[in-house]
Amino acid sequence: MLKQSVRIFSRNLKSQSFSRGLQAPIPGKFGYKRPIAGLVLGAAIGGSLALSDWSIYNDQFSSTTPLQELQPPQYCQDEVEFSEAVEKLKAVLNNDTASFSVSKESLDSHSDTYFNSHHATPEQRPGIILYPHTTQDVSEILKICHEHAIPVVPFSGGTSLEGHFVPTRSKWTVVLDLSMNMNKILKLNDLDLDVEVQAGVPWEDLNDYLGEKGLLFGCDPGPGAQIGGCIANSCSGTNAYRYGTMKENVVNITAVLADGTVIKTKRRPRKSSAGYNLNGLLIGSEGTLAVVTEATIKCHVKPIKETVAVGSFPTVGDAAACTSRLIQEGIQLNAMELLDDNMMKVINRAGATYKTDWIEKPTLFFKIGGRNDNIISEVVGEVNRVAKMHGCHKFEFATNSDEKLELWEARKAALWSVINEGKAKDASMNVWTTDVAVPLSRFSEVIEATKEEMNTSGLGNAIVGHAGDGNFHALILYNNQQRSKATEIVDNMVKRAIAADGTCTGEHGVGIGKRTFLLEELGDGPVDLMRSLKLAMDPKRILNPDKVFKIDPNDHEE
Ligand SMILES: Cc1cc2nc3c(=O)[nH]c(=O)nc-3n(C[C@H](O)[C@H](O)[C@H](O)COP(=O)(O)OP(=O)(O)OC[C@H]3O[C@@H](n4cnc5c(N)ncnc54)[C@H](O)[C@@H]3O)c2cc1C
Ligand SMILES: *[C@@H]1O[C@H](CO)[C@@H](O)[C@H](O)[C@H]1NC(C)=O
Ligand SMILES: *[C@@H]1O[C@H](CO)[C@@H](O)[C@H](O)[C@H]1NC(C)=O
Ligand SMILES: *[C@@H]1O[C@H](CO)[C@@H](O)[C@H](O)[C@H]1NC(C)=O
Repeated sequence: MLKQSVRIFSRNLKSQSFSRGLQAPIPGKFGYKRPIAGLVLGAAIGGSLALSDWSIYNDQFSSTTPLQELQPPQYCQDEVEFSEAVEKLKAVLNNDTASFSVSKESLDSHSDTYFNSHHATPEQRPGIILYPHTTQDVSEILKICHEHAIPVVPFSGGTSLEGHFVPTRSKWTVVLDLSMNMNKILKLNDLDLDVEVQAGVPWEDLNDYLGEKGLLFGCDPGPGAQIGGCIANSCSGTNAYRYGTMKENVVNITAVLADGTVIKTKRRPRKSSAGYNLNGLLIGSEGTLAVVTEATIKCHVKPIKETVAVGSFPTVGDAAACTSRLIQEGIQLNAMELLDDNMMKVINRAGATYKTDWIEKPTLFFKIGGRNDNIISEVVGEVNRVAKMHGCHKFEFATNSDEKLELWEARKAALWSVINEGKAKDASMNVWTTDVAVPLSRFSEVIEATKEEMNTSGLGNAIVGHAGDGNFHALILYNNQQRSKATEIVDNMVKRAIAADGTCTGEHGVGIGKRTFLLEELGDGPVDLMRSLKLAMDPKRILNPDKVFKIDPNDHEE
């Protein structure tokens, strides 16, 4: 009874607000098409609702926003207006020529990279790159871009892999690069185990800084990535299995919304149930909801002792099954990385480590940590036992910390080593890096099937995996004639992962390259809800347009 009257009451409220909305410029706020069905239904119901009221009611108050209900976004495409806006943007940066750039080189490097899986067309270049100094600069810039409906692409280290920062709206786009002037570590709260940083800090610099204090940053994405991009892509890496992904490592965020509003998502508690999870909303939003300018990040205490163990297995499936089993048995490790036989061959040939005679078989690298040697040797014993069950007969241990570091760096450099080899054979060689994640019990079967398809494809390839999270990457080399073969492998890999109840991306994100897969993974409802959130926060759709999902019914790119 109570519920019923509440519902009627709120319905009345809505009807009041939409009739007020008629005088305000609410119709078409998001550029909705007025659905004919709404009009017909409105006419049939008649009563106190005017026809147009009903259609607004229908548009404005649906929970989700299907693409077909949108009008194309109306961006500034007027030369005079755009250049006037650009002058205003420069003035925000004191007309300082070091704080913006229009050189071909920087327009190119802010649009695409060699290792992107989804590339920009030659026309897809922004109008200008801005290097703001403060959150206030970013706010002023966004106010201007919002006023003139100018697309803004935030940019950090440029290491993302799915066309995340392609300026799809070409020369009418402004790129905001925080790396040059907003790259400071602001404050370490060592007793709280958190650190306040600006968004342009490279994660490796942060990690070096923390390392001197016996601490570490929990994520380790591509070399050169920065905190803003880490948050935007919800990155993780080899350490995520132990320390969590970016989603678990952010305490609070300072962000600038599309219209220039500055928000701080929280204070600095380790946990909080106060209100919506705005951190969760921004982490992984790929620059489409807000520009992150500062963040407070959790730090972890470095393991007092840690050793690296390496073991090889008959097949990738065996190696994968071993990692899943270790987790199912509750054996705590600091990292578990999987490298297939091809990857081991590349590492040997590249001479990237002190050793160049690694067994060229599917291999697991483990980080085993603890407070003392006894604890470590106990865990080593457990790992040995489980590994034997899966066909691994011998472990090698790094004998000193240099070796330990080298091993991990060889793993981090996997992509570069594969690229170098490919290019040495054929200068026109491209690389495609793709990533999926599946539930642990399906890891072995999905990775095995992918390996088999890659092995028979005739294309250069390697598999590396953050095995502790059921997450793996395929690196595929292809020349222009082989592009469709590579596409097929990636499609099948993603479909296989989704069919196993997994995800189209465990850590690289969606960008443009995986928009279709996101729909396949989740279906329309959740993606239409994301679109509603996007429109609520960025009604003019200026922030990193066309990423994660489509926002323009005229966007026919697959
Ligand atoms: C060799 C290599 C290895 C990699 N290994 C891993 C790995 O192990 N784990 C992993 O997770 N990833 C990995 N990656 C992918 C990549 O490093 C991560 O996705 C990383 O988080 C991207 O950060 P970035 O600073 O380079 O962001 P960019 O590429 O500059 O931007 C990424 C996205 O974030 C948005 N963005 C950037 N800055 C901001 C901001 N301040 N506010 C709002 N949005 C912003 C951009 O618009 C874009 O959509 C690897 C990449 C390479 C090249
Ligand atoms: C920037 O240059 C414009 C003219 O192009 C001028 O009007 C404005 O005052 C300058 N602003 C600053 C902060 O230097
Ligand atoms: C986090 O909250 C603290 C306390 O309110 C504040 O000092 C800090 O600036 C905030 N950091 C960010 C990045 O919002
Ligand atoms: C790869 O393919 C070859 C034959 O094409 C086969 O002999 C080999 O067993 C395959 N390896 C894997 C790991 O599937």
